[in-house]
Amino acid sequence: MNEFCETIGIRYPIILGGMARVGTAPLAAAVSNAGGLGLLGSSAWGPEELARQIRQARQLTDKVFGVNIPVRAQHAPGLIAVVMEQKISVVATSAGDPGIWTRQLKNDGIFVMHVASTVERAVKAEQAGVDAVIAEGSESGGMTGPEEISTLVLVPQVTDAVKVPVVAAGGIGDGRGLAAALALGACAVQMGTAFIAAEECEISRAFKEILVMAKETDAVLIREDKMSRRVLNEAFVEEAVKMLAKHHPDIAKTLEAAPGSGTRGAGQIAGLVRKVRPTAAIIDDMMREAHAILPKIKSNLPEL
Ligand SMILES: Cc1cc2nc3c(=O)[nH]c(=O)nc-3n(C[C@H](O)[C@H](O)[C@H](O)COP(=O)(O)O)c2cc1C
Repeated sequence: MNEFCETIGIRYPIILGGMARVGTAPLAAAVSNAGGLGLLGSSAWGPEELARQIRQARQLTDKVFGVNIPVRAQHAPGLIAVVMEQKISVVATSAGDPGIWTRQLKNDGIFVMHVASTVERAVKAEQAGVDAVIAEGSESGGMTGPEEISTLVLVPQVTDAVKVPVVAAGGIGDGRGLAAALALGACAVQMGTAFIAAEECEISRAFKEILVMAKETDAVLIREDKMSRRVLNEAFVEEAVKMLAKHHPDIAKTLEAAPGSGTRGAGQIAGLVRKVRPTAAIIDDMMREAHAILPKIKSNLPEL
């Protein structure tokens, strides 16, 4: 029995991480419908747009879904007010001090998770009262901590340091990653990059095809003041667009027209994304692969 899944009310321990402009209602609802937990990525939306996305998600699923809110954003108070008004049951906060909103959200009965990129930040989140910590390694797409700690290194140390459940994020893209995360002590995984290639993701078909072409070395880290950002290398994207345009001029033209256009955000696991598939296929295959791996792990582990 997976207590984390039971508490939230989901079937599988697989979360769609909040993705600014990419994590819209159709994708979040598809992940929840497939048994996981879809999170709407609200970073780039104002309160009205978040409310609209929540309404749309509710039309697409009767399963539980949540919202990711960037703590540091100036418009965070408006987003927090919307999730409370709309009676959202799960919120994942990120990019900022977990002490700012956790109490208020929890007093409203909301299950609160916070994204942490180091052990120290995970402990701080637990002290702030969160229900779970999302330990996100630096191989992940989008914003990452400046310390550049990988998921393999971060997750076991966070599970040792906190008592609350730990969700592993960063570099997970299939059932092997899920099984590995559980072996490291996580109770669930959060994925972003792998879900960009889902059919229900509203980003352009061209970006999905570019993601499929990407190798693990094409998702590079851009270091900024306080944070780093992992995105597909600009030169690679330009080259990929030229190749796409040769065979599919119509697809290549869609690159700028869809939600999330221009973001280029993606993690190193892009190298493992091999085709555009329905969300349910991504999740079902992961679950099947993770189950198939367990006996293999056992047979590779010599008896004591
Ligand atoms: C395009 C993109 C945008 C993202 N935007 C956000 C965001 O707005 N807030 C956030 O907390 N995490 C964001 N993330 C991180 C994801 O929620 C997730 O933790 C991460 O993608 C997991 O690593 P993976 O990409 O290796 O699966 C983003 C990731 C990507 C790829």
